Amino acid sequence: MVFLNGKVLPVDDAKVSVLDRGFIFGDGVYELVPVYSRVPFRLAEHLARLERSLAEARIRNPYSREQWRDYIFQLIDRQSFDDQGVYFQVTRGVAKRDHAFPKNAEPTVFMMSNPLVNPPPEQVERGGAAVSAQDNRWLRCDIKSISLIGNVLLRQVSAEAGATETILFRDGRLTEASASNVFIVRRGVIQSPPKSSLILPGITYDVVAELAATHGLPLEFKEIAEQDVRGADEVWVTSSSKEVFAIISLDGAKIGDGLPGPVFRRMYRLYQEFKQQVMRAGKREAVSV
Ligand SMILES: Cc1ncc(COP(=O)(O)O)c(C=O)c1O
Repeated sequence: MVFLNGKVLPVDDAKVSVLDRGFIFGDGVYELVPVYSRVPFRLAEHLARLERSLAEARIRNPYSREQWRDYIFQLIDRQSFDDQGVYFQVTRGVAKRDHAFPKNAEPTVFMMSNPLVNPPPEQVERGGAAVSAQDNRWLRCDIKSISLIGNVLLRQVSAEAGATETILFRDGRLTEASASNVFIVRRGVIQSPPKSSLILPGITYDVVAELAATHGLPLEFKEIAEQDVRGADEVWVTSSSKEVFAIISLDGAKIGDGLPGPVFRRMYRLYQEFKQQVMRAGKREAVSV
């Protein structure tokens, strides 16, 4: 079952006009929230990022936080599986094709939930390969836009190389990866690029930063040169679905000794423990927005 404009219905019955600006222009924004044991993880933060993306895209937010929460819970309840990835998007609505904003269009809201597939433990143990590419996307990567052709083309580079991710450099500096944020470790210090319009402010990125601060792991946000990524002791990617995942080679060259490193192992464990705590709390009432 999926959600379309206030109704929960079978996916085959969910129909959107071909004039929807999401279809015509990619004129919309989205979110993906991981749900563990039917409890959404960091829902308030995802809703805050959605609000920000909508405001930057100048699309009206059709629902209050409480409405979003109710609709998301309704959708979660209609699925047969417990761990879910809830995807939701808002487009500028249906209108005659014209680049300028339509006067009276209602935003279109679509949500679906799929089984959440996190990397299995044996893959986490092994880590994954990455390749690099020039970051040729637009300059507003902080907006979680549904116009993902740039990310799609860049992800395909690693897909065709049989690698997990494409790590992106712009003007000789690390930005992020095609569908995740990037952290490196150098001499025991965790580093990641600061938030800017060139990267998506990841919810997992924030969780990693909080866990590092709580557990006394040194972490700094700073501009990172391409050669510092290639020469790093460890490289990780983070996202709601990949969680924290170690990259063990870049363009065929080993990162560190070619195995997930000790700082990664520590952070992975902390992340899993933190998730367990949230799941044990397991109460919907505890999910604030
Ligand atoms: C380009 C990009 N960067 C970073 C992320 C990670 O964001 P989050 O941790 O909120 O999933 C994503 C997630 O989809 C992404 O597409």
